[in-house]
Amino acid sequence: VSIGSGHPRIRSAIVVLSAAALAAVGAVAVRTPTADAATGDSLGVAAEKAGLFFGVAASPGRLSSIVGREFSQLTPENDMKPDTIAGSGGSVQNTGNADTLVNYAQSNNMIVRGHTMVWYSQAGSLQGTGQSTLNTFIKNALLKWGNKIAYWDVVNESLDDNNTGKRRNQWPHTLDKDSNNDGDYFDDADTDYIRDSFKQARQVVQSNGLKTKLCINDYDIEGLTVKGGAKNNKSEAMYQIVKKYSQEPYKYIDCVGFQSHFNDNPNSIITDDLEANIRRFAELGVEVHLTELDIDDDLSNNDIGSGQAANYRKVVRSCLNVPKCTGITVWGISDSESWRSSERGLLFSGGNGNYTKKAAYTAVLEELKKGRSTTSPSPTSPSPTTPSPTSPSPTTPSPTMETGCRVAYTDNTWNNGFTAAVTITNTSSNTIDSWSLTWSWPGDQKVTNAWNATVTQSGNQVTARNGGHNKTIEVGGTASFGFQGSHGGDNPTPGGFALNGSPCTVS
Ligand code: XIL
Repeated sequence: VSIGSGHPRIRSAIVVLSAAALAAVGAVAVRTPTADAATGDSLGVAAEKAGLFFGVAASPGRLSSIVGREFSQLTPENDMKPDTIAGSGGSVQNTGNADTLVNYAQSNNMIVRGHTMVWYSQAGSLQGTGQSTLNTFIKNALLKWGNKIAYWDVVNESLDDNNTGKRRNQWPHTLDKDSNNDGDYFDDADTDYIRDSFKQARQVVQSNGLKTKLCINDYDIEGLTVKGGAKNNKSEAMYQIVKKYSQEPYKYIDCVGFQSHFNDNPNSIITDDLEANIRRFAELGVEVHLTELDIDDDLSNNDIGSGQAANYRKVVRSCLNVPKCTGITVWGISDSESWRSSERGLLFSGGNGNYTKKAAYTAVLEELKKGRSTTSPSPTSPSPTTPSPTSPSPTTPSPTMETGCRVAYTDNTWNNGFTAAVTITNTSSNTIDSWSLTWSWPGDQKVTNAWNATVTQSGNQVTARNGGHNKTIEVGGTASFGFQGSHGGDNPTPGGFALNGSPCTVS
C-alpha cells in the first residue's frame, strides 16, 4: 500500500493521520498538504466530498501552486488542440506543453480532460482532411496519453449558433451526407463525422483496454430554454445526438460537456431550467460536466438578474443536484488571465500567481460543502415553453436538509485499491431496527469484501445490509461498517446515500 501524492481529498486526510497510522501503511510519500492548512478547504476537496471533480483550464505558464491546491482536475486550455499537436496525416507531435500539464496533473493527483480532437476551430493540419486522417489522429491522441486522460472531448462545437438546432456547415461538417434528405445524419446510409469519430475513439479505447471516457462538448446547450422562454433548439439537437450515440447499438458517448460560458447573449444566459436539462441528459446514462464555466459579472439583461456569486451558486447547485453531473471546470483561474477578461467571469482576481478570492469563490465553496441534494427531484422536467416558476431562487439556495439519517464516509485510497469506513447516524425520531444503505459509485469502483455489513454490488449500485450486532440504531445512535474495494485509478467519493430507501445527509 502506498499513498500517492495527494489528491486534494487524500491530502486533507493525510493531515489528520497520526505518525503511527502512517507507519502502519508502510513507505509513504507524503506531500505537504496544500489545501488551506487550517481548514483543509479547497474547491477540489469540497467537490470530492460531494462526489464530483472541480477543475480548471490551464497552460504551462499558469501552473502556480493555486492550481494543485484548489483544483482536482485540469483541462489544457489550448495545448492539446490540433493546431498545436496534430502533424501531417493525423500524427501527433509537439506535445511538450501538453506533457507538462499532464505531468503536473499526475503529480498533484488531478484528473485530466483532453481537449479537443475534432473541431472546426484551431484545427491546424487537420483542417479540411477526411475521416481517415481524423481517425488516425484520434487513435494517436488517445494512445499518446492513455489512461492519464480520464475524459477526452472527442468532438467539440458541432452545432450551429443562433438556436437553429442545426449542425454547422463548415468543415468537418462538409464530411456529412444526409442520404435521404430527411434532415438528420442518423440513417445507416448517412455519413456522420460525429458518429464516425466516436466509433473510432470507442474502438481504440476498447481494443487497448483504456478507461478514458469519451465526451462531446458544446456551448449554448445549457438550458432547456433560451432567453424569453423559447425552446433551446441547440440543446435539443445535442440531446438527440447523445441519445442516439450513447445507447445501443452504438454505446459510443460516455459524457456530455456543457461549456457554460454564461453571458448576456440570449442563448447563453443562465435559465431556471439548467438543472432539469442536466437531468435529462443524465437520465440517458451519460455523465454531464460543466466544462468551461465562466459567468459574466454583469448579467443585467439576464432573465434571472445580476449577482455573479449568486449565479455561480445557482449553477453549481444545479450540477450538485444531479448525481450524474460529475464535474465542473472553470475556464481559467483569474479574471485578468481569462479568454474573456472583460467579463470578469472567474473566481479569482489578480494574476501572475498572486490571486485573491472573489465573492464568487466563497459562494462556490459554500455550495460544494453543502453536497448533493438530499431530496428526490421530481422526475418530470418542466416543459421548455413553461419554465417552472417554483425553481429555487439563486439567492436562497436550499440548505442541506436534515433527513432521517446522516452518513459519514471516509476512505483511504492507493493506486488501484481503497478501504472505506462508513458510519450511519439515526437522525430520525424513531428507532431503526434493521437497515440497508444504498449508494452509487460515480466511477468504476468495486467492493471486494466488507466487515460489519453484507455488501453487494450490481453495476455501480451498492447495497450494504446490517450485520446481526448493528441491526438496531437508536435515535441519535450510530452503526458502522467498512469495506475494501478496487478502482481503476480514480476513486471519487460516492453520493446518493439512502437508508431503507430514504436519502441521507452526508457529512
Ligand atoms: C479558447 C481559449 O480559452 C483561448 O485561449 C483561445 O485563444 C481560443 O480558445 N470553447 C472551447 C475552448 O472549446 O477551447 C475555447 O478556448 C473557448 C470556447
